[in-house]
Order: sequence, then structure tokens, then C-alpha cells
Amino acid sequence: MTGVLIDGKQVAAALRAEVAAKVATLPYQPGLAVVLVGDDPASAVYVRSKDRAAAAAGIAARTIRLPAATAQAELLATIAALNADPTVDGILVQLPLPPQIDARAVIEAIDPAKDVDGFHPVNVGHLHEGRPTLVPCTPLGVMKLLASTGVALRGARALVLGRSGIVGKPMAALLTQADATVTVAHSRTRDLAAECRRAEVLVAAVGRPEMVRGDWVAEGAVVIDVGINRLPDGRLVGDCATAECAGRAAAITPVPGGVGPMTIACLLENTLTAAQARRG
Ligand code: GUN
Repeated sequence: MTGVLIDGKQVAAALRAEVAAKVATLPYQPGLAVVLVGDDPASAVYVRSKDRAAAAAGIAARTIRLPAATAQAELLATIAALNADPTVDGILVQLPLPPQIDARAVIEAIDPAKDVDGFHPVNVGHLHEGRPTLVPCTPLGVMKLLASTGVALRGARALVLGRSGIVGKPMAALLTQADATVTVAHSRTRDLAAECRRAEVLVAAVGRPEMVRGDWVAEGAVVIDVGINRLPDGRLVGDCATAECAGRAAAITPVPGGVGPMTIACLLENTLTAAQARRG
């Protein structure tokens, strides 16, 4: 089988257009505030693309740039001001944060109703209780990519490779809620290749370049590659050896152009969701 490449750019563009159309019907403009501490170049690139995508969807985006040496108290005061600002519907604090800052305390300071990353423990709790509110953007995007393939999740054997709070854990919760039979595998899993081979749906989110080889993939599986790894030669690769895996999979996401574009589109959707929940 030669797998179909899942076009994340196209699915993301459709979602962005859908969000823009809904925003255009609102009697107010949803607001998104992105807080960037320090000058990590990768973060600066992400933040610029978030700004552009928000503007294109009719969302008022503002970026608050703070110096790398910002004290925790100052960042918490910034968040308190955004929590209190009625024009701000969504707050996103770009990670990673500099070492003097306790990221957990910062996430917990965000009003859960404005937590468009879905990282606040209240939103994490809602998701794991099976009544999701604001859901982390990357796993939400993966669910939409799976839907675009038409794969039936009910009763399917799904394997999530990776157990991070940002992707693996919420991914497993969403797949469980969609009635898949979910296994979470990780660095301590025995015979990872055999676990992967049992999966009809495989989501790789470990951050290890091309770790999933072609013979780890079941014939006809749907493979979603969340990894974005830069190799020493500058190439960007996923967690899966894409060409090898595509030889067995029914469908697979490319890197780049798969999951990446969905994350920002889902951030816009979460901003709209938060705005509608707050303002009607
Ligand atoms: N840095 C890398 N990914 C993310 C994300 O999804 N949200 C935030 N806030 N920071 C990130």
C-alpha cells in the first residue's frame, strides 16, 4: 500500500476560513493576547505566524513582549491585567519560559475561561472528565486531521506514542472519548515496535527524529506525525520515517505541512470558542 499524504495545510485553511466566517457574524471582535518572554528565535517565528493568522481571521491579536530577565511577579501582574481586560478573550503564554519563571504557576494564573492553550488544570480536568471545554490545540488539530481521513475511531486500536501534558495525555483523552481503544506508549514501553504494529491509528509525539520505521506500521494504518525535529544538516523531519511508513500506511501526515498548520488554526478556533462562551 502507498499511503495518501494528509494535507494539513488544506485542512487548516478550511478551518481558518470557517473561523473567519463565524467571527464576521459576531457583533464584537474576539481578542487574543500572546505573551512572549525573552527572544527565543523559534518562539518569535511562531508568535509572528499566530499574529498573521489571527488578523486574517478577524481576531484582534496583540503580542506582549517582555525581556528575558522578567521577574515572575511581573509576568503574573501582566496576566492579571489580561484576565481583567474585557477585550481579551484568549491568553497564550508562549513556552518555553526562561529558567527563573515557574511555568506551572504562570499557567495556573491564567483565567481558565481565557486559557486558549487548554493547559490550565481546570481545563485539563474537564477534558479528562469527558466534558472538554478549551482543549490543547495540537491534539485538537490531530482529531480534525483524523476526521478528514474518514477513519472510524469507534472501537479502533489507537496508539499514542508519547505522554507529554501538551500532546500525549490530552490526545489519549480525546481518542478515548471518540470510543477508540487507546494505548499510551513511551520511552519505557517494552517492545515499542510491536505495540505500534498493533495500531490501526498511530499518533507519534515523542520528539525523536524518524524513530518510527516503516516496519513499525500496520498495513492500512492511519499515521499522524506530531514531531518536528531539526537535524544537524538543517532538514526538518518528524518522529516517523515518512517515506518508509507511507509504504504501509493508508494515510500519513507529512512534516512539515501536516500537524503544524492545524495547531494555529485550532488556536483561532479556541479563541472564538472562548469569546462565544464569555460574550455569547
Ligand atoms: N510552545 C510550543 N508549543 C506551544 C504551545 O502549544 N503553546 C504554547 N503556549 N507554547 C508553545
